Amino acid sequence: MSNKIIINKKIKNFSKKINVSGDKSLSIRWVLFSSLADGISRAKNLLMSEDVLAAINTIKKLGIKSIIKKNECIIYGNGVDGYKYKKNIILNAQNSGTLGRLILGLLINSPYPIKLIGDKSLSKRDFKRIADPLSKFGANFKLKNNKNLPLIISGSKDLVPIKYLEKKGSAQIKSSIILAAIRVKGKTYITAKKSRNHSEEMMKSLNLPIKVKSRNNYDFIEINKVNKIKPLKYKIPSDISSSAFFLVLTALTDNSKLVIRNVNVNSTRIGIVTILKKMGVNIVFQNQKIYKGEKIANIKIVSPKSIKPINCPSKLNSGAIDEFLIIFLVAAKAKGVSYFKNLSELNQKESPRLKWGAKILNKMGIKTITTKDSIKIFGNPNLKIEKKIIIKNYLKDHRVFMTSVIAALSFGGTWKIANPEAIKTSFPDFLKIINDLKKK
Ligand code: S3P
Repeated sequence: MSNKIIINKKIKNFSKKINVSGDKSLSIRWVLFSSLADGISRAKNLLMSEDVLAAINTIKKLGIKSIIKKNECIIYGNGVDGYKYKKNIILNAQNSGTLGRLILGLLINSPYPIKLIGDKSLSKRDFKRIADPLSKFGANFKLKNNKNLPLIISGSKDLVPIKYLEKKGSAQIKSSIILAAIRVKGKTYITAKKSRNHSEEMMKSLNLPIKVKSRNNYDFIEINKVNKIKPLKYKIPSDISSSAFFLVLTALTDNSKLVIRNVNVNSTRIGIVTILKKMGVNIVFQNQKIYKGEKIANIKIVSPKSIKPINCPSKLNSGAIDEFLIIFLVAAKAKGVSYFKNLSELNQKESPRLKWGAKILNKMGIKTITTKDSIKIFGNPNLKIEKKIIIKNYLKDHRVFMTSVIAALSFGGTWKIANPEAIKTSFPDFLKIINDLKKK
């Protein structure tokens, strides 16, 4: 792949049906749960991206074999206590916050210290948020600058269950604690601000000892030690976070229509759909069904005549947390000022995304006012870009790259966007699908 992509033409209107790749959150969770199962687990449509391959490599270092066939991944689990720990193991989570954070939960009883490393972007991110709760169970941590990777986790034989209040609405923190709790005798209680609930649903579908009650914007979760996990057969549905780029491309391209098949529309993930509907975009779910606790549907979207600005309710933040960069593009075309607030978590992602969102919009000629956790976007329904725009040095954040491509195709101008290989993190087929949409 060349080290930049140049786009200098808007996309023409389209009317298509597409498939996007498997859900990343579910793919990584499937790999981790399968690594603990008694016997052979199989997944179809597992996302074959670098984040998921890093998860497969990580369990391999812990002694768990796997095979990747055409459209199937097979994992040979060794049981809940089946990891083969060795001295001086180094695990590499590469770019994946989800992998880095969730795997630590499973290592809290490791008999040897284990080093966890990641790439440049992951090494800037906060791991204290995981070390804090996992230390309460009895594990020990040494972190670079008390916060970052590389870190060393030392497990304990004398683990105790904990009670934890998770206030950030982070599924990675919640899931790391859930995975730790399955190793600990007794009941662990988590009160967690609502966030994606795939770990909980996967555990329920496996009949594992987890109970969840919900009130207001919080989940009350109770977990017991797990002794046995049966193998998991899973057909991974498509990722709404990958679909999001095409939902927005359709919303911004006049006279266009799109159906995206078989998408995971779990209620904790569809913030983007709620937000786009509030902005006047017509979206419907077709052929809805429930699969292993996850809601699946075809998403049909039709481009609107005009886009309304939004004062985005903060309770939608967690369900759209990976989609704000692309949502900001819709606000750029709205007739009026949009406001997104309480988004400090956005600057904790693969790159500081609140800053990058503003940067991309400003380069496009859209006025923004940002604070450390909010952004006002002054939309322009007649926006036409005629200048050159260069996007580089963005820590290879896959979503910055894909958002820039969608902006170029929607608003015009000549865009030079560095590091197209960034898509390999979450969505290797992204540019191929764009090409399919360009074909008449
Ligand atoms: C994820 C949780 C979210 C999200 C990430 C995937 C997960 O992170 O941004 O892309 O699979 O649990 P936080 O939990 O840090 O919000």
